[in-house]
Amino acid sequence: MGETNAVMSPMQGSTDAAVTARVEALLGRMTLEEKIGQTILFTSSDTITGPTGARADLADVIAKGNCGGIFNAHGVANIRRYQDLAVKKSRLGIPLLFGSDVIHGYKTIFPIPLGEAASWDMKVIEASARTAAIEASAGGLNWTFAPMVDIARDPRWGRIAEGSGEDPFLGSAIARARVLGFQGEHLGADHSSILACVKHFAAYGAAQAGRDYNIVDMSERTLREVYLPPYKAAIDAGAMSVMASFNEVNGIPVTANRYLLTRVLRDEWGFKGFVVTDYTGINELVKHGIAADEYIAGKEAMLAGVDMDMQGGVYLDYLKKMVDRGDVSVAEINQAARRILEVKFKLGLFDDPYRYCDEAREAALSRTPEHLQAAYQMAFESLVLLKNNGGTLPLKLGGKIAVVGPLAEAQSDLLGTWSAEGYTHSPDSILTAVRKLNPNGEILYSKGCDVSSGDESGFEGAVKAVENADAAVLVLGESADMSGEAASRSSISLPGVQTKLLERLKKTGKPLVIVLLNGRPLAIERESSLADAVLEAWHPGSKGAEAVADTLFGKCNPSGKLPVTFPRNLGQVPIYYGEKNTGRPFDPANPCEKYKSKYIDCPNDPLYPFGFGLSYTTFEYSKLRLDHKTLDPNGSIIASVEVTNTGEREGAEIVQLYLRTHSGSVTRPSLELKGFQRVTLKPGERREVQFRIGESDLVFLHSDMTWGTEAGPFEVFIGPNSRDLQSEECVFTVAPGRQ
Ligand code: GLC
Repeated sequence: MGETNAVMSPMQGSTDAAVTARVEALLGRMTLEEKIGQTILFTSSDTITGPTGARADLADVIAKGNCGGIFNAHGVANIRRYQDLAVKKSRLGIPLLFGSDVIHGYKTIFPIPLGEAASWDMKVIEASARTAAIEASAGGLNWTFAPMVDIARDPRWGRIAEGSGEDPFLGSAIARARVLGFQGEHLGADHSSILACVKHFAAYGAAQAGRDYNIVDMSERTLREVYLPPYKAAIDAGAMSVMASFNEVNGIPVTANRYLLTRVLRDEWGFKGFVVTDYTGINELVKHGIAADEYIAGKEAMLAGVDMDMQGGVYLDYLKKMVDRGDVSVAEINQAARRILEVKFKLGLFDDPYRYCDEAREAALSRTPEHLQAAYQMAFESLVLLKNNGGTLPLKLGGKIAVVGPLAEAQSDLLGTWSAEGYTHSPDSILTAVRKLNPNGEILYSKGCDVSSGDESGFEGAVKAVENADAAVLVLGESADMSGEAASRSSISLPGVQTKLLERLKKTGKPLVIVLLNGRPLAIERESSLADAVLEAWHPGSKGAEAVADTLFGKCNPSGKLPVTFPRNLGQVPIYYGEKNTGRPFDPANPCEKYKSKYIDCPNDPLYPFGFGLSYTTFEYSKLRLDHKTLDPNGSIIASVEVTNTGEREGAEIVQLYLRTHSGSVTRPSLELKGFQRVTLKPGERREVQFRIGESDLVFLHSDMTWGTEAGPFEVFIGPNSRDLQSEECVFTVAPGRQ
């Protein structure tokens, strides 16, 4: 029997001082081995999310106090058993953390994070994370390996699906919303507050050639201005764990990168939580080529600032020896154990190691009507209407509609990558949802082809169905396993013969609507030209099919906007909004001009730009103006614009504000998103939308790599996306003395 009852008195509140006192008291009673035990994280055998499986001696390791946490264990009964081993068998009964990848839902699955980002709606994104936290904590978990905030600008990279797209401003806002959703106002506030783990620090999304785990090599300027802000936003929002990424940054793998893990994270940003590696990240330092063996790898990681070893067993095997040899100090071990114990105290695990183990709560809080409604709302707001020629959409209810394509009957694929416990329930397919919505209609179905095979034998059946219908919905795209981890693609075209099927169906002359299910931007220039309408649905989650059907038939009016650029083809990649001018900027007014930064075989502009998305109504922007032309010290400028719903039905518009720095000591992006607001307007309704611009919006890295502002001038643009912008010469400068 462990000395559990001797461990601590009931928590005197989770104030930092109280926690610190309790941590120090506990540390003072721990042996070196027990402190090392806190730095160890192993997977359970329930789910394996990496190259190595669960240890055979896991129960023994836990009972000896040689483990600080378990991940991938699911279900209260199962987690309780693990917790019993730690609390009742080990000498001091220190409770375990239980982590898992609750990325976009636990039992109720929300759209993939890239789809959530397309909503640009921080309230529903926070609600999504909150719902996930409620269900995951009811399932015994107290730690999620989320939010994933990696900026990504290469759609070949499969994990672009897990993040918030290409922009640091939008990505930072979403990072904040997700941390608040997972942790609540403060960590451990109640038993639905779970520890957030911001990942993958850092710049994992810049993997060269979009190939997962590949090297990352970029300037300090790009790293700090584009890739780091969302991690900092998550930490500023209170995230108390950070996951080190697999990749190297500029020659040093992050798992051994003291500059990032200590200098930036701790010294500059004041991060107080703990750093955990990614799956066997320490062991992989040997393969990276910066450690001759795992002993050295472990030393490099500990000295760089890694507190917890996920699944590698390196800290378990070697930390004691490192201390004996003087390669690592007891103080460093104490620091790592302290950070982990502080989080456990804040989570309330020392007052009640089983506070997250409540079978009744588990049964009551999974897939509740409220959770499913939240998933529906998120799914609906994630949909992006990319094309709608001649009002093809919305379709008339009760008509004769053909639903074809390899994903029309897809169910689990709708859940996308990293769908946690979503497999426990099959969502409706889009075909089923369309049928349910049209009880009096005639819905013809034919698959037409598979997602990836070259088999065209189903084409004729699809042609027949479409020929007999008034219009056709083609559900095309990628299966869930074609994005996510270790799922980079060397092509971003529609897989298989899906495009050929579309070309064949085009000959029927019937209106064609594409519903795209995908985990990344796809190069759909040809498909988009052949279709009359295109609805981007990502992998939309447990209630995605209903949201798609309701949107196709006009029950809902789509409002989503792209969080990532859709290129015309892979040759344009990397392509993102706000690219710098260069010394020979391409002039769209003179496309044939030679000696300009352009391609000879393709336009520079993307197929669909960042921030783009249509509605079933139309919006007009007018009267863009600034209330000042000079930004005074500690002052601000109000930019305002009038937005009018000029269409026939109510709709929501995401009004976007961008800034352009006309000149400075360094070259700057041609546009930077600095604000967005969602407004819902009735037909004919006009509203003035205001944005406050302050000095903090103008800060960038000077040529000497110090942060600050400069005189400008700065130009303000406002509009419905990063391309169709109004400026009307709205320019301001920064008053001297504040730069
Ligand atoms: C995986 C992923 C990471 C995940 C971890 C645990 O390799 O890179 O995102 O949180 O392992 O499953």
